[in-house]
Amino acid sequence: MLTEEAVIEALRGVIDPELHKDVVTLGMAKHVQVSDGNVSVLLTLTTPACPLRETIEKDVRAALAKVPGVDSVDVKFDAAVPEGRRLQDKASIPGVKNLIAVASGKGGVGKTTVAVNLAIALKNLGALVGLLDADVYGPNVPLMLGTTEQPKMLDEKTIIPIQAYGVKMISMGLLNPGDRPLVWRGPMLHSVVQQFLRSVRWGTLDYLIVDLPPGTGDVQLSLIQSVSVSGAVVVTTPSVVALADVRKAVEMFRQVHVDVLGIVENMSYFSCPHCKGKIDVFGHGEGERLAKMFEVPLLGEIEIDPQIRIGGDTGKPVASRGEDAKSIYAMARNVAARVSVVNLSGAAPVVQIL
Ligand SMILES: Nc1ncnc2c1ncn2[C@@H]1O[C@H](COP(=O)(O)OP(=O)(O)O)[C@@H](O)[C@H]1O
Ligand SMILES: [Mg+2]
Repeated sequence: MLTEEAVIEALRGVIDPELHKDVVTLGMAKHVQVSDGNVSVLLTLTTPACPLRETIEKDVRAALAKVPGVDSVDVKFDAAVPEGRRLQDKASIPGVKNLIAVASGKGGVGKTTVAVNLAIALKNLGALVGLLDADVYGPNVPLMLGTTEQPKMLDEKTIIPIQAYGVKMISMGLLNPGDRPLVWRGPMLHSVVQQFLRSVRWGTLDYLIVDLPPGTGDVQLSLIQSVSVSGAVVVTTPSVVALADVRKAVEMFRQVHVDVLGIVENMSYFSCPHCKGKIDVFGHGEGERLAKMFEVPLLGEIEIDPQIRIGGDTGKPVASRGEDAKSIYAMARNVAARVSVVNLSGAAPVVQIL
């Protein structure tokens, strides 16, 4: 007679490849049901954007196939994103499970492009996502999302984010529409951003993506120090001169004990539409080299593609068109997986996932 216990015992042999524990110990294997020889298992992943879903399903099927009496196996998935670690002296934002900072050593490397497309991809993969445009120098998230909608203020201390492509968003740019550049002074900037962080009513979010100002100065530091950050994504381009910028960014996060989730190499290569070959415009591979050097994962390599620029310029980010934007969805899955690893392991282990 096939029993639930026998099935659960077999599932103890299925190890999550990134969390390095079995799916029973991790509490992922839920609702094991057995009727005659038919087994159904519900597995709860730590993110709907899990890149390992297929691997885990394959391993579960293989493990159960070995159990005597099993005729058929039905594997279903759902996901519950765990809450990020709370640092004692840092404020957390109500409802926000994980705050992911997107940073770069300098401007123009595609930080906002990455932040916006990451947010939309995670949303399309099934997560609850918000996007905070904290780039006070160039708040162009609204432009890239194609919106000028004004957020509603319930009262002086409560801002309701607007929505675009299913992502909740708030931007300094919306509070200052037009092309007037904002010249914020240090303390004023700090208080405006603080107010922002405290006043926005996000509701429940699995991930809040924050487009930080470029660079590694006081503004960036005060921002990341004031809240509990799950981890940071550092965006760079593959030119050799990016090295010093990446080092500064990685060092800044380490200094304030924020885990660097990894590096995204943007404008990585160009896929020639004619010959279909990959052309290394800036010398592709630099991101991987940097990642190794700083012992952080390479989370993605995003090609140079006129469609990515046009998507940004016209307010229709490529990620909104679905999984055709392969490199972007791959990056989003890697980022989500890294957040899970960091949350569940207590400290960011050094692993290469590409
Ligand atoms: N992978 C890419 N392919 C083509 N154009 C890109 C890519 N990434 C960014 N861009 C374009 O480069 C410019 C700068 O990108 P942006 O995201 O605004 O950079 P940052 O926020 O770092 O200043 C924008 O016009 C954007 O559309
Ligand atoms: Mg930007």
